[in-house]
Amino acid sequence: MYSAMTMPFGDLNPPPRLLMGPGPVDADPRVLRAMAMPLLGQFDPAFTAYMNEAMELYRRVYQTKNKWTFLIDGTARAGIEAILVSLIAPGDRVLVPIFGRFGHLLTEISRRCGADVHTVEAEWGQIVDPDAIEDAARKTRPRLIACVHGDTSTTMAQPLQDIVAIARRHDALVYTDATATLGGMDVAVDRWGVDAISSGLQKCLSGPPGSAPISFNERVAASVNARKHVEQGIRVEGAVEGNGPVIRSNYFDLAMLMEYWGESRLNHHTEATSMLYAARECARIALEEGIAARVARHQTASRAMVAGLQAMGLAVFGDLKHKMPNVTGIVIPAKVDGEWARHSLLHDFGIEIGTSFGPLKGKIWRIGTMGYGCQKRNVLICLNALEAVLRQQGYAAKPGAGVDTALAEYRKTEAA
Ligand SMILES: Cc1ncc(COP(=O)(O)O)c(C=O)c1O
Repeated sequence: MYSAMTMPFGDLNPPPRLLMGPGPVDADPRVLRAMAMPLLGQFDPAFTAYMNEAMELYRRVYQTKNKWTFLIDGTARAGIEAILVSLIAPGDRVLVPIFGRFGHLLTEISRRCGADVHTVEAEWGQIVDPDAIEDAARKTRPRLIACVHGDTSTTMAQPLQDIVAIARRHDALVYTDATATLGGMDVAVDRWGVDAISSGLQKCLSGPPGSAPISFNERVAASVNARKHVEQGIRVEGAVEGNGPVIRSNYFDLAMLMEYWGESRLNHHTEATSMLYAARECARIALEEGIAARVARHQTASRAMVAGLQAMGLAVFGDLKHKMPNVTGIVIPAKVDGEWARHSLLHDFGIEIGTSFGPLKGKIWRIGTMGYGCQKRNVLICLNALEAVLRQQGYAAKPGAGVDTALAEYRKTEAA
């Protein structure tokens, strides 16, 4: 038995931080409170009612009537994998526009699903030229175009309407990864005609990582159900099996997951109770604010952050026309040690900002203004701290220029 003296580790006591990286960002306290609610059995009618509520709430967040809108237990990539492994049959042609790390992730997962993957790449910091995507679609005749909406690694957002229009002309399905954008940018699944989509909680939805809301239409559901093979042991007499190839994952098998989230309540996995509470609360918070107001809040923060950084003489990374409003890339000035600066922000100011990877490693920082963390005071605090840190590195921005300019940008919006 351990006593307080001999217990090797103490109570959890995370240091106070302001999470302003590209995610996870600070969770809304309401979400943390929801997670502290008592557990229920997964087939308790009270719990299945919460499951149904979560489905309805995410239909509204995704702006869709898709019946099949539910949660995958796991981080955002669990949602990506569930859709791709259930939709892609070995040998299917998949086209992936790549404009950052997460396009590479879609490529990698599609390959693991046995797809014949074709890619069209843009330089990091740009979006992919729709004409190049169209050209590739004409040449490769993909069954699926899988495209990231907003790539957090580069801060760019690819306009999805173009992708859907191309897919329709070439009779392809469209899947998009909206992990970085849902709850921070307009994501209009039905209006745009996206066939399947997934996200995560830890960015603009103000929750912890660990639940991935997904949605897909009947065309996708039909394709997945053609591969339905319910595992022995829970299969019921007379159940109709699909004649397509077995989906290569049990956990992420959307055919079984539809049965679990649907009327038959097939006993698949044990739903992650506390994460469902969290996801449900995240959606309620987003809808309470209203999607339009939420998008506007992220845009205001982006304008203020960009203006503040530029007033400090810093270069904002990438094509600003296609920058996501919830994350801003900053070119690390010559002679400034980027990691030293991040370390000082974290340890002297308690502020976390992000670095980047691949071709941008050591070249840019990324500041997130997402969900609950997307607040005026956070923008101002962060700019102030960054100015002080840069000064220590010999980079002298005009004192107060960043914070004053950002504040002026906020005042303009508030007066409008
Ligand atoms: C655009 C995008 N897609 C996918 C992911 C993967 O999410 P997770 O780390 O939650 O699995 C991330 C995470 O940063 C992301 O930004």
